[in-house]
Amino acid sequence: MARLRPRSATYVAPPNIALVKYWGVRDPELALPYNSSLSVTLDRMRSRTTVAFDASLDDDRVELGGAPAVGGPRDGVVAMLDRVRAAAGIAAKAHVRSENNFPTASGLASSASGFAALAGAASAAAGLPLAGRALSRLARFGSGSASRSVFGGFVEWRAGHRPDGRDCYAAPLFPPDHWPELVDAVAIVRGAPTKEVRSAVAMQSTVRTSPVYRARLAAVPRRIARMRRAIAARDPAALFPVVMEECDDFRAVCETTRPTLDYLTSASRAVLGEVRALNREAGRPIAAYTHDAGAHVHVFTVRRHLPTVRRRLAAIAGIQEVRVVRPGPGARRIGGPRVGPA
Ligand code: DP6
Repeated sequence: MARLRPRSATYVAPPNIALVKYWGVRDPELALPYNSSLSVTLDRMRSRTTVAFDASLDDDRVELGGAPAVGGPRDGVVAMLDRVRAAAGIAAKAHVRSENNFPTASGLASSASGFAALAGAASAAAGLPLAGRALSRLARFGSGSASRSVFGGFVEWRAGHRPDGRDCYAAPLFPPDHWPELVDAVAIVRGAPTKEVRSAVAMQSTVRTSPVYRARLAAVPRRIARMRRAIAARDPAALFPVVMEECDDFRAVCETTRPTLDYLTSASRAVLGEVRALNREAGRPIAAYTHDAGAHVHVFTVRRHLPTVRRRLAAIAGIQEVRVVRPGPGARRIGGPRVGPA
């Protein structure tokens, strides 16, 4: 009897925002980071990716957002397919279709949602039983931050110590409904410049040139421990200062990279100033800012303060929209396996 194997699979995966940033690769071959990171998986936004292996194709066909992918984005997808094909022992080329339910060029999501969805769909379509930790390990080869989008809620990506990377994977810390009061008001900067250099490349110039990078690495483990405790206790006054300390530290290593990495615009900087002002006025931390390698700023607060925070952010010149998101579920398969002859 012919062995039956799924040939096509669809996955959806969300973006995540790092509260402790992944920034620096200790082993490019195995995609191992220097430091562990901690993130919140976001609801409402997602990438949806279908992979269909088809022995009649003579090359991979990749469509991103309805258009054929070329250059770097295509190469990244094909590299992930090659990795899956090698693991599954198949040679068939694939048709890949991926789209986001948010404007891709907005710079809102990193490659996290796209590569988490691709890793899930490609491995399932190839008949590999990958889930959880194993899927996280595969996703990180597409994009480090994608390793965290496999899981929902609050997630830690452990850098590990082993040279073979077996102890390097993301794991869920707390589920999406752990802290219902916590919200993320994302200040979308009008006309935010698109990233010219992938973070995976930019971070390596920080490793080589920033004089404060080593100090950052030394500070990260304590910061992660403090955040884990604050999130466990659902304590904004404990969490928010350390979120901003980490963001300021990330910005400092970027700004001291040569040539300098400056991801913010004047509107982004105004958001940081407004959050500091809100906390000063309240006499305690009621909000915290953080940003990735891009101009938009995520402002965490609790429901009670959301109307104030929202109003103050929306009034800043150059802020196009304030989009409220919450902790959400991780990557998941859509529909059952479709099977066909191997
Ligand atoms: C600043 O793993 O997303 O967002 O795929 O090259 O963009 P690229 O790398 P990626 O880098 C993430 C960098 C960061 C911090 C973080 O998400 O941990």
